[in-house]
Amino acid sequence: MIFIFIMKIIKTSIFTFVFFLSLLFNSYANQSVEEIIKGRKAMFSENYQNAKRISILLKSGKIDDAKPLMEKISKNYIKLLDYFPENTKEGFKTEALPSIWENKKEFNDLMKKASDDMIKLAEAIDTAEDLRAIQKKLMWSNCSACHSKFRAPH
Ligand code: HEC
Repeated sequence: MIFIFIMKIIKTSIFTFVFFLSLLFNSYANQSVEEIIKGRKAMFSENYQNAKRISILLKSGKIDDAKPLMEKISKNYIKLLDYFPENTKEGFKTEALPSIWENKKEFNDLMKKASDDMIKLAEAIDTAEDLRAIQKKLMWSNCSACHSKFRAPH
């Protein structure tokens, strides 16, 4: 009898242990989804701030100060490629649309194009005649091209 009783206690403890362990893993998993979504939002916001700074700098002819910001945006876009795993489709106020995961290649290609274009902008800016036009072509148009299909209206 005492043996069965002890076995029962051991079983219950194992179940309890596994149960709490799974809770722990669950919360870790959730935390990383939160980190990923918040992380990508922060990077897009940073890009936006830097894009606005670039416009202001170019208006006053400070081309050399604007170039590092272009490179920074370009690098952020490449990092962003890893910020859309399958488990981050919803939650934490994401504005990412399901179309991203339905057209992953198209989405990633747009991201890479946006990144390449920032490098092209840094190269073209020295000789460009119309600074506004070239920023529109190589910077701002990529934002709307992607948002119109892959970001929820906000
Ligand atoms: C290849 C696609 C793509 C490109 C290019 C792109 N974005 Fe976005 N952007 C997104 C997606 C998707 C989201 C939604 C992310 C989320 O909420 O999880 C977003 C969100 C944002 C946000 C909101 C961030 C927040 O705090 O919620 C801002 C601001 C933004 N983008 C600005 C820009 C600007 C400015 C550009 C161009 C210089 C740009 N984006 C280029 C796809 C893109």
